[in-house]
Amino acid sequence: MTPPTLRYHNPVDVRFGEGALQLLPEVLRGRPAVVITFPEAEATGLLPQLRRLLGPQLRGVLDDVEPNPGVPWVEARYAAFWERHAEAVVVAVGGGSTIDSAKLLLGRTSSGCFAEVLAAMRAGQAPAFVAARPLIAVPTTAGTGSEVTPWATLWDRTSAVPTKLSLHAEALWAEVALVDPVLTMTLPDAVTRASALDALSHSLEAIWNRNANPISDALAVEAACGLIAALPRLLNDPRSLLLRREVARCSLLAGLAFSNTKTALAHSISYPLTLRFGVPHGIACSFPLPLVWSMAQGSDPGRDAVLAEVFGPQESNPAGALRAFLESVGVDCSFTAYGVSPEETAGILRTAAHGARGQNFINSHLCVNPTTSS
Ligand SMILES: [Fe+2]
Repeated sequence: MTPPTLRYHNPVDVRFGEGALQLLPEVLRGRPAVVITFPEAEATGLLPQLRRLLGPQLRGVLDDVEPNPGVPWVEARYAAFWERHAEAVVVAVGGGSTIDSAKLLLGRTSSGCFAEVLAAMRAGQAPAFVAARPLIAVPTTAGTGSEVTPWATLWDRTSAVPTKLSLHAEALWAEVALVDPVLTMTLPDAVTRASALDALSHSLEAIWNRNANPISDALAVEAACGLIAALPRLLNDPRSLLLRREVARCSLLAGLAFSNTKTALAHSISYPLTLRFGVPHGIACSFPLPLVWSMAQGSDPGRDAVLAEVFGPQESNPAGALRAFLESVGVDCSFTAYGVSPEETAGILRTAAHGARGQNFINSHLCVNPTTSS
């Protein structure tokens, strides 16, 4: 039987390398811009640099993005954004929270209210946008992948049961991603580590995924191997532009991989850990990776073969090798380390397996003993 035709699709125009930020005027092609960024961008000199680069093209700035964007922030800005910036290109400069916040604003509903978007997201449906602004994404961390994916995360803490929502729409693909490793040079160690581990999670989640294909596999294996090799060296030498470049490259490749597969079980496990226990996303989606790898192992010989490329075929216990790697960069892989009891762990794992991202995981016969999960 002829195997099915596979598809890999990513329309983002990616510009990668030191100085990529300087291409911003060129890729704007004379269009007006509104910059969305994080509060520290002024003091760090990033926002002044953007003002110099853009000159009169810069028509507005939103620089109060919050970590893990929530409903009130978007609701409070949505109508005003469309009133003032309906002609502007959205330039998102920051980490995953910043780029996702920009994505949450850039699609316009027929009513002009964000409530329409929120209702669609809560129903698990794609909102009907009547207009959308182009996005130029400029990541300042190396890990999110949001610059090359068509979705955004919204943390819905206002509903009866706080939950993580995902907005997925064609309009959310960035027109251009400017990935400039220089922008990550001054990141604190904790952010460097959590961001890179988020990228590692994206790469492995793209492999143990029902939507994997040979192209996403190639990108994911290259990303995972590169991150495992480079992150410990970068944490020892955070001023190395060479290592910053390598981790940014691997993060980008991981983003390109999971842009076509979405994430899987480790991310599904991570959401309550972030919402209820305050664990940063990059840690919450990476410390369960050895557990998830052990669940993936043996489910599918083809997937096992791709996973074996990460630590090499000579490694008889890759899940153990991954745990040793994570511990070497200061990550505790036990749920109890994050204040999660064995009973809560069992509940989180059960719920995660049934979540939308959990359904992407290759092993649908999860049988987890919570005492072995810590
Ligand atoms: Fe992630």
